[in-house]
Amino acid sequence: MKTDLGPLPAICPMPVLIVAAYGGNGTVDAMNAAWGTISQMDKIVLMIDEDHKTTQSILDRKAFTVSLADRKNLVPADYLGMVSGNRVPDKFVRSGLHAVRSEHVNAPVISEFPITMECELAEVVRTQTMFAVVGKIVNVLADDRIVGENGKIDISEADLILFDQFGWNYNAIGEKAGKAGQAGKELRRSHRGQECWHRVSSASRPGTDPSPGCGGRR
Ligand SMILES: Cc1cc2nc3c(=O)[nH]c(=O)nc-3n(C[C@H](O)[C@H](O)[C@H](O)COP(=O)(O)O)c2cc1C
Repeated sequence: MKTDLGPLPAICPMPVLIVAAYGGNGTVDAMNAAWGTISQMDKIVLMIDEDHKTTQSILDRKAFTVSLADRKNLVPADYLGMVSGNRVPDKFVRSGLHAVRSEHVNAPVISEFPITMECELAEVVRTQTMFAVVGKIVNVLADDRIVGENGKIDISEADLILFDQFGWNYNAIGEKAGKAGQAGKELRRSHRGQECWHRVSSASRPGTDPSPGCGGRR
């Protein structure tokens, strides 16, 4: 049995992204955004309302940063999503967070968050159903303590939080459940010869091997 719940934005988990840009007088504008994702290996898309103070600053400055919130900074992260800089101009100061200027783009890097993407505004998408800003990720900053010897971010050290938009909760990110791109290998092997491989762009998708085309074997 299943229950009909009607139309819902039923994607879970959502990230807890903290978007920041410089305002007109050099203030730091920042907001919480869950509706964001990666659209190309170096592009991030944020579905953010055009009238948010932070959005206006992104459009003015053509640069912004996007940080991933962690458990330690859950309270200020939530505050940035509850209060608008349009009404409370010193909102960022009140959050208790701190920022320094990015070395790569004209935008603030919030010091407290463990991972930050430094972005240039690449595109603004306005359609009947969507307003979105697209950022070109020119650099990622990560706290030394979460970067492993292999040079990759180890999220088990970052204590990131995620947004549950069913219950409006922040959850901690749980344990690793499997290895992406490997967990399905045995199943794929058992169906060898039955697949119809379609060509995909291996350059634009993580973890995809070049496809040999329809009827190809691996
Ligand atoms: C958990 C959470 C997620 C949110 N996600 C988004 C989002 O994806 N897009 C958006 O436009 N607003 C989102 N908001 C609302 C903005 O963060 C909020 O309106 C904020 O006050 C805007 O600030 P600003 O006007 O200072 O830029 C979210 C708020 C919370 C608490």
